[in-house]
Amino acid sequence: MFSSRNRAIGKAHSKLILIGEHAVVYGHPAIALPFPTLTVTCAIEEADSGIHLDSKLYSGPIDQIPKRLKGLAICIHKTIQEIGKHHNGLLLKIESMIPIGRGLGSSAAIAVAIVRSLFQYFNCELSDEKLRELVNIAEIYAHGNPSGIDMESVCCDEPIWFERGKGIASVAIRSSFYLVVADTGRAGDTRSAVGSIKHKLDKSPIQTKQSIDRIGQYTLDARNALIQGNLVQLGLLLNLAQTELEKLGVSDHGINHLVNIARNAGALGAKLTGGGRGGCIIALAENCVQAREISEQLNQNGAKRTWSFKVEETQQFQS
Ligand code: MEV
Repeated sequence: MFSSRNRAIGKAHSKLILIGEHAVVYGHPAIALPFPTLTVTCAIEEADSGIHLDSKLYSGPIDQIPKRLKGLAICIHKTIQEIGKHHNGLLLKIESMIPIGRGLGSSAAIAVAIVRSLFQYFNCELSDEKLRELVNIAEIYAHGNPSGIDMESVCCDEPIWFERGKGIASVAIRSSFYLVVADTGRAGDTRSAVGSIKHKLDKSPIQTKQSIDRIGQYTLDARNALIQGNLVQLGLLLNLAQTELEKLGVSDHGINHLVNIARNAGALGAKLTGGGRGGCIIALAENCVQAREISEQLNQNGAKRTWSFKVEETQQFQS
């Protein structure tokens, strides 16, 4: 049924939110980083008829895609419509290393890889604006009220400063550092975590707004700590943000446990990353020896898996 006359491959990487998640939904800034260790590819082949998906999430004609993935089907149809070129049939093969529901931007990365591969397949130029517009269709469906930070950070190869409705700016990092990412092994649901904070805002507006505003302030302070290369201060701010995320109810026992393990193993700071209520934590380490020790402790004490990687100083500080 499928032939390989024509082929295209689109790629995207995952992302990590360093600080500012949830508050970013309410207009505060957030800082996100590309997480190049985990990637997704979408390879397109010609098919005899129809559009088919081959992935761990779902395999089959996209017209019969399960409801929870409907956003992807709409995104694919809109992208093909936008390209406006004829095809007989297409097979989209998705291979993703990004675990789902871990706050690592899996849904946005899949959509980015799909849109990129479709434009490549039809030899069409894809502007940054068009990519974002098309991916946003899938993200709105997946997350309800996304701020847009997931999409922006999986599209970008640099750390970003993001404010809803204002777009992105670059982030200056004076001193390199390591981040250890640890998976609780449980999927979180960003849509329901975001919804729970909205509910909290309706029920106890003053306290909830206070926590959201504090996270916003810690994010501003974190940007200064990065510019100054003050990793101790950055770690402290990650810890403070985690305290507010706990108050907002998006942390849980598994996250708190890993955060404590990381801090006791010498992390300068540790917090959840992404939507929370499951998913992953990040821990800040000054160097690779410290990162290795933190990883080991996390692996021995309940993390399903860990990854660690170096965040380099940005160009203006490189000698
Ligand atoms: C999810 O990665 C980040 C949240 O702030 C939601 C959003 O910004 O859309 C929790």
